[in-house]
Amino acid sequence: MGTVGRYNKVPYLDDVECAKKYGRVWGMYEFKRPMLAVMDPDMVKTILVKECFTYFINRRIFPSIGELYDTLFFSMGDDWRRIRNTLSPTFSSGRLKEMFSIVRHHSRKMADRLRLKVDNDEVIELKSVFAPYSLDAIASCAFSVDVDSINNPSSPIFIHSSKLFRLSILVFICHGFFPFLVPLLELFGLSIFNKTSSSYLRAAVEKIRAERDGQDSRDILQQMIDSQTVSESRREKQNKGLNDHEISSQGILFLNAGLETSNSALSFLAYNLARNPEAMKHLQKEIDETFPNKGQVQYEALMQMEYLECVINESLRLYPPGARLEREAKETIKINGIIIPKGMLVTIPVYALHRDPELWPEPEEFKPDRFSKENKQNINPYAFLPFGLGPRNCVGMRFAKIIVKLALVEILQNYSFSVCEETEIPLQMDPQGLLGPLKPIKLKLVPRSDASEHVDMCN
Ligand code: HEM
Repeated sequence: MGTVGRYNKVPYLDDVECAKKYGRVWGMYEFKRPMLAVMDPDMVKTILVKECFTYFINRRIFPSIGELYDTLFFSMGDDWRRIRNTLSPTFSSGRLKEMFSIVRHHSRKMADRLRLKVDNDEVIELKSVFAPYSLDAIASCAFSVDVDSINNPSSPIFIHSSKLFRLSILVFICHGFFPFLVPLLELFGLSIFNKTSSSYLRAAVEKIRAERDGQDSRDILQQMIDSQTVSESRREKQNKGLNDHEISSQGILFLNAGLETSNSALSFLAYNLARNPEAMKHLQKEIDETFPNKGQVQYEALMQMEYLECVINESLRLYPPGARLEREAKETIKINGIIIPKGMLVTIPVYALHRDPELWPEPEEFKPDRFSKENKQNINPYAFLPFGLGPRNCVGMRFAKIIVKLALVEILQNYSFSVCEETEIPLQMDPQGLLGPLKPIKLKLVPRSDASEHVDMCN
């Protein structure tokens, strides 16, 4: 594997060890490929923001990526700009307000599902609730379909969306050690990501599109379709518009990009709150004051909740789902005296940056007040990157926050999270994929009326 994982087989924990040994910039090899890790905030600013368009517009070129080459995440250069220009308005404030009531419908369903589990005194495996909830919310906003995976976890859309970006280790290793075999793999139709899942989801998106024929809708799919109807000349001038293949690709991407990340964010939030009951009580107080008598959650009020924002930020600091960002240098460039040659892969070790003790005092502690109005001016904006940064940051950030906030408020209005015998402390992290635990996180939910004593007992 090269030198990646030399101190810890979990790549982002390895970054923490490297930062301790080498400081904020170091080199490593992924197989035979040299990579530069940068967690110096000034350099991060240059790479992600100042020189994004000129030198660092692309992520790595994945080998054998199959049909997903034209998703926003993997597209490159001018294609990326055009796709991003087309998709950005999808997440404007006006659109998000429209999506809010759809997501709220799903957060209600999730709360109903949880009630059944609590009534049966079940230990909750968080992923089994948060992953289907996230998928249902995204699928409804993107395609106006109710997958209802919260009640039907074996739904093929849910299964395939969860599996889509599971790397084929065989193809990955082959690319690392035997790059000359890559064309052969492609000839046999082998792809680095799950081909069966991507084919299933593409067919599903195309079917939804075909069935809609002529019906008016305000979902994300419709906005992408509408981008096709502007004339060719206007399309070029505005650098907007998607072709049929690109439309299906973005549909597939949203399902997976949103599901894995939102599930991870929610699971770690619940875990952190269960382990920090004082912060949870503070948050419940804010929730009760904002929506008295367990009242219906409203968009404007939700968005203005200050402590909720602090709690989410602090949890994303400790457990950022995208634990590493990547950019590839388009040309050779010198930054802070360091020459980064053309083609060099630069990684920003977000997990390690978020736990740098000089930037974050007591970095391992869960302290939402770091992000309070009074304290947040002490935070270096280039040291907090849960959604990435600059023109290529997470396009779904504000949408994701709605999904996360609604779920959290809906649950904490009625329950408290509580650790139990089955809760693993500390968590062992999974060496594969996005940041996540090796074993599923398990907690109990305690009804609010008798929550206080129980929570104190368990912690
Ligand atoms: C808590 C949830 C989420 C987190 C923490 C998260 C985080 C991230 C991060 C770290 C990146 C890479 C940014 C960079 O390289 O600078 C990213 C990119 C992206 N995210 Fe998210 N994300 C979340 C939810 C979502 C959702 C709900 C969607 C869409 C429905 C979405 C769609 C995307 C897309 C399309 C990109 C690629 C953007 C581009 O290359 O232009 N994400 N996300």
